Amino acid sequence: MRPCASIGAAMAASFAVCRLHMRGRGILVKGLQKVDTCLHRNIGTNVVAAQSAALRKDETDEKEGCKSLYAVQAERQEQAERSVLISCHSRTNEKKFLKHLSKHGDIKKYFFYESYGMYAVVEFANRESVASLLEEAVIPSVNHESMVPFKSRLLSLKNLGSADSTNQQSGHQCQPQATIPINELIQRLSREESIDQQITFLTEAYQLTEENSRLRFLVCSLLKDIAAAYFPECNIKPFGSSVNGFGKLGSDLDMFLDLDGISGRNTKMPKSGLSLEYQMKRANSERAVTQSTLSVIGECVDQFGPGCVGVQKILNARCPLVRFAHQPSGFQCDLTANNRVAMKSTELLYLYGVLDPRVRFLVFTVRCWARAHGITSGIPGAWITNFSLTVMVLFFLQRRSPPIIPTLDHLRDLAGPADKSVIEGNDCTFVSDISKIQLQSNTETLEKLLCEFFEFYATFAFNKMSISIRKGKEQNKPEVAPLHIQNPFETSLNVSKNVNATQLERFVALCQESSWLLQQSETNTPGSGNKGNTPTPWGLATLLLPSQVAGIKSRKKRRREPASERIKSLLESLKNNNQQKKS
Ligand code: CTP
Ligand code: MG
Repeated sequence: MRPCASIGAAMAASFAVCRLHMRGRGILVKGLQKVDTCLHRNIGTNVVAAQSAALRKDETDEKEGCKSLYAVQAERQEQAERSVLISCHSRTNEKKFLKHLSKHGDIKKYFFYESYGMYAVVEFANRESVASLLEEAVIPSVNHESMVPFKSRLLSLKNLGSADSTNQQSGHQCQPQATIPINELIQRLSREESIDQQITFLTEAYQLTEENSRLRFLVCSLLKDIAAAYFPECNIKPFGSSVNGFGKLGSDLDMFLDLDGISGRNTKMPKSGLSLEYQMKRANSERAVTQSTLSVIGECVDQFGPGCVGVQKILNARCPLVRFAHQPSGFQCDLTANNRVAMKSTELLYLYGVLDPRVRFLVFTVRCWARAHGITSGIPGAWITNFSLTVMVLFFLQRRSPPIIPTLDHLRDLAGPADKSVIEGNDCTFVSDISKIQLQSNTETLEKLLCEFFEFYATFAFNKMSISIRKGKEQNKPEVAPLHIQNPFETSLNVSKNVNATQLERFVALCQESSWLLQQSETNTPGSGNKGNTPTPWGLATLLLPSQVAGIKSRKKRRREPASERIKSLLESLKNNNQQKKS
């Protein structure tokens, strides 16, 4: 099936566009030829999608160049507001289902997916259709239970007993919402012919799909309906890996409750004449406003939010948040407010991701490798986070010769007046017009870069140096944390403050071993040693093998032996010397 193109593959599409843009600059990356065609292949998606004029529109958009993150977000948000989420039966007759919904207006796109049951996301061409559909919906009739009468765009399709409203053979093709299991990934990678192709495959298999991305915006839009009960002009925007181009299926959904439209942050006061102002309750600080807002919205989500479970209000954190699971989508959600710096870093990561395709390929590979070896974890703790890892990859790419991506200071120097942004005293200015950024001509392959990445961090002076993508150069460590990665915008903060010495040591040891393994695989021929249908893991596949960790330990011992042998013989010779002197 043709990839769904609504802005959709918007992000994927914009990455593809940027690659064309790149080639226009005469940058040819050996080993990346397959990439262009590959990203247009929709791996593992069996989406039942309505064809629409949107596809043609998006093709036009693709030609226009890379969209800014703001443009992508605005378009997707608008799309989400015209959408509903419907729980339905796995044997729902698709034709009848669509016919029924079409009574309310044209359907622009729809797809089915499974998450504790079957769901359909339906996007109408017009908002009026959603209003009309909601008019039709009734309150559930329950005998013994009481219900909070909060109406939302999360609905259930009921079969009212007509014999042909379900279809035994229907078997919907569902859009996968989870990544392929690691064992399957290893096998698929082992069938690829080069490490560059393996990296490309891994990225395609792990990146967010068009549908998963839509679902993320739809969940934000459903949440906004709840928050709008108090703040009608509010907005809820996704940030972090849901939109920065580095998200994978299964990543959490970070959301930002934006009250700027109400708080007057973006409005200008009249300079003269009469004017009226709202009377508002005063709070002690911005933080206190954030805490009380999130507390109330968190309570609403908990008490009234259909499908929202396990709500925790974590209001005393450095960045207060409400955490919950959204069951119908399967997303773990973090709702924050007043978190504008994180929105900026999301925008920055997105920009770096579209500047050069190798950025995303390398970030996906390193993130997947780190997860396979427990370097990162879904549970908070002393682990390196994906955000830290991403910054480490960016820093490494800035340190290539010539650099693959520019420093943040350079991006700030290229900024125009409209790009100026100071948030809570932090300079968050950087250029938004991608065409102003001149890249240097670096043609290193993905294989080379991956190998060099491991080598770079296997020997990095973590004890003395800090990583700074602002300067693109190692800086002296300002504090004694084992790992110091300067926050790109709040420069006095360390984004990896949570990491302890043990976790850093594990990371370094794995970098050493992975670099060694990749060098070994140079002598391996892909696909050699096939046993039946199971190919022998090689290249990137060996780096992801859990058993390889055990192998790593034993190799480490072996490799250390000569050193300990040398020390032993040195001691022996000293002893002998001493004895000789005494005698
Ligand atoms: N962030 C930040 N400083 C930190 C941690 C996070 O600015 N110390 C911002 C980054 O923009 C990050 C976003 O908050 O992308 C969300 O954080 P998190 O969910 O931890 O990382 P993600 O990039 O979303 O990665 P993941 O897929 O693991 O969720
Ligand atoms: Mg996240």
